[in-house]
Amino acid sequence: MTAIGCVLKLLRFVFDDIFRELTQMNFCVVGLQWGDEGKGKIVDVLAEHSDIVVRYNGGANAGHTVVVGDNTFALHLLPSGAVRANTICVIANGVVVDPDTLIKEIDKLAQKNITLSNRLFISENAHLVLDYHKKEDRLREESLGKNKLGTTIRGIGPCCADKVGRSYAVRMADLKDLKKLKAKLETIVDYKNKILAALYNIEPISAGTLFEKCKSYADQLLPFTINTTEFLHKSIADGKSILFEGAQGALLDLDHGTYPYVTSSNSSSLGMPAGCGVPSKMVDKIFGVAKAYTTRVGGGPFPTEQDNEIGQYIRQQGGEYGTTTGRPRRCGWFDAVAISYAITIGAIDTIALMHLDTLTGLKEIKICRAYEINGKETTFFPANATKLAQARCIYETVPSWDEDITEVNDFHNLPLNAQNYVCRIEEKTGKPITIIGVGPKRNQTIFR
Ligand code: GDP
Ligand code: IMO
Ligand code: MG
Repeated sequence: MTAIGCVLKLLRFVFDDIFRELTQMNFCVVGLQWGDEGKGKIVDVLAEHSDIVVRYNGGANAGHTVVVGDNTFALHLLPSGAVRANTICVIANGVVVDPDTLIKEIDKLAQKNITLSNRLFISENAHLVLDYHKKEDRLREESLGKNKLGTTIRGIGPCCADKVGRSYAVRMADLKDLKKLKAKLETIVDYKNKILAALYNIEPISAGTLFEKCKSYADQLLPFTINTTEFLHKSIADGKSILFEGAQGALLDLDHGTYPYVTSSNSSSLGMPAGCGVPSKMVDKIFGVAKAYTTRVGGGPFPTEQDNEIGQYIRQQGGEYGTTTGRPRRCGWFDAVAISYAITIGAIDTIALMHLDTLTGLKEIKICRAYEINGKETTFFPANATKLAQARCIYETVPSWDEDITEVNDFHNLPLNAQNYVCRIEEKTGKPITIIGVGPKRNQTIFR
């Protein structure tokens, strides 16, 4: 190639990149803690600039809250972009779909005059959560007594186990051939009944009833069902901008979280490529969402937990009750060790720090800067639950503020101590905080 050829190629490369930057940006939003960080709100806010929003992991265990004016939507399976009339919504292959919940959710939006026809696409490879999965989840949790994981009982673990096991799994595409599906369900139900009877001594489930339900799922959901991987790649080629919406959070990741107190999918950003068939290279920016403190629902170690009046204050101020199960969330201080780990494994570019308003009125605020485990100080998060349970937090204390910040929309108008708290978290995590939440509504968001 001549020198001029090289220069032209370089210019094209540079300008292509700039052009792409201006027109087509693909973002990913993931939780950096144990879920419920406020992903729904951030996805809704960012969706204003996206053509497509994609859910790629988890199932109806997720509960993503979007507040639009006087309406509060709790979305479990639909991407949070669903509330915007022109946004295309994709439920990709990595999601385990509970058809009952999804149909209810579509109907609920329809009651508010928000329709999804021609803009919702479900992957034909997504697995179905069926009644017996929810039953198995509940029976297993009950039988474990105090050793239970504290799941959402949405059938996630049993469905994902069947997905990996392959022999007894049902995918959306199976709804297309009802004759084959009928035979498949008979085999599955026979197998499940033997196990459920032996382990839990319960009434058998009926393959016939299940088949009738599946027929109705086929009627209602097949019109939305396509090859979403093909659709997403075509959309990218057409210059559409895509927002990938993670469910749960990095610390609940099946492989990298606080196992076994995790969910059954890769809920850090590492799950995104496999969950939708789009390589992470095609994502321009990953937003990590974290609360200005920490919460957790269900069992498992939680080093900064404040099982005291501080935790109660945060729960009360922040309305910290599960969106999916209504369970009170466990509350504690911001854990910079855990967040730094989530940032490292997730290649996080920038942080959205939510619920800063919830900390207003506390006497003082603490940030966990390191752990002491077996007499040794560490700043690397041990995802191993046994080791994590031994961690003693080393805190630094920062001054608090009393002013109401829920109407503030410029960073520099926040009380100085609130500004300093944000900056301190940036220093500890090494990542810029470019979005700050000061309330649940769209306009209660500060951009920096
Ligand atoms: P997600 O699962 O990450 O989408 O989070 P959830 O919706 O389960 O829980 C977050 C809760 O906090 C919801 O009730 C939101 O409406 C609310 N929320 C989000 N951001 C803020 C914020 O900055 N301040 C306050 N006070 N509430 C917020
Ligand atoms: P969003 O997307 C908070 C937790 C459960 C339990 C563990 C395993 O709203 O952030 P599972 O039902 O998945 O087998 O439960 O994971 N969990 C969540 N916690 N937010 C979620 O989703 C969660 N999804 C699952 O409480 O501890
Ligand atoms: Mg939630």
